Amino acid sequence: MPYQITIQPGGHIINVKAGETILQAALREGFSLPYGCRNGACGACKGKIIQGKIDFGRFNENTLTEKEKQNSMALFCCARPLSDLIIECSGVGDIKGIRIRKLPCRVQKLEQVAPEVMLISLKLPENERLNFLAGQYIDILMKDGKRRSFSLANAPHDDDLLQLHVRNYPGGVFAQHTFSTMKEKDILRFEGPFGTFFLREDSDKPIIFVASGTGFAPVKSILEHIFYISEKHGNNRHMVLYWGARTKADLYLAELAGGWQKKYENFSFIPVLSEALQADDWYGRTGLVHQAVLKDFDSLSGYQVYACGSPIMVGAARKDFIKLRNLPENEFISDAFIASPTDKKD
Ligand code: FES
Repeated sequence: MPYQITIQPGGHIINVKAGETILQAALREGFSLPYGCRNGACGACKGKIIQGKIDFGRFNENTLTEKEKQNSMALFCCARPLSDLIIECSGVGDIKGIRIRKLPCRVQKLEQVAPEVMLISLKLPENERLNFLAGQYIDILMKDGKRRSFSLANAPHDDDLLQLHVRNYPGGVFAQHTFSTMKEKDILRFEGPFGTFFLREDSDKPIIFVASGTGFAPVKSILEHIFYISEKHGNNRHMVLYWGARTKADLYLAELAGGWQKKYENFSFIPVLSEALQADDWYGRTGLVHQAVLKDFDSLSGYQVYACGSPIMVGAARKDFIKLRNLPENEFISDAFIASPTDKKD
């Protein structure tokens, strides 16, 4: 039976088709609620059911606690309506002018920048451009019908080539193809852009970026976007990037981030290694990347945090920053990579 959902604030009404989650229905109707993993792992889509009944669906129990459920909170990527609903979320509204498209593209360049990281540059057909917001991602459409999600690492103004950062990992079909058989001039197909991990330009709060591994990709896109607009319109937001990796080689574009630090007074870069090798000769920060933030900040109540990387890092950062450092929940904007080997985001 089709249900209606009223989204507050704003009173926007959407219709739900049989079997759809709240998020699926909202996206199909062109209304963008915050989301990241789409499988109950990251918590980015959490919101309140003001009225009506739902099936909570399957999700990670650390992402939505029993207490939150009792307080009528739900994960909109998993929850399905069992009646008409009124919901409330710190939504971001329509992503105006951003159309989700399916496009072919050509592999223009492959650059292995670390033992386990490949940068792929994709060229769209002549006269085609992809309209996207810095930090969004695309789905590569694979021949067997599966999808593989990757954040766009280039900023929207620099869109001659689309850049993806692909990490190799055991069982990753697309990743292994990238490292073994993919060649320049190969043709791929993708759909996008997706996601709500993008800069909230209506805020002037200082920003903390927390990235692990190739979670640097969408952060690079957002930062290059900010640097570009700040050259035109000015930008006084103070920004700090904590980039965590196991070894020095895994910080595959550390020189780029270090260069930003030299160039922009309002930007600092703090690399953090969790398993530095002796050969790394590392005198910088060590340990887990989100703990480095906890060490440096007694309070995050006046900050906005953008976190991208493994679900473990993003989940721990969300929990600790909100609970231990008073970060307002709606100021934690995240994009977690999904652990499933067939639907994984880098
Ligand atoms: S938990 Fe819903 S989008 Fe991640």
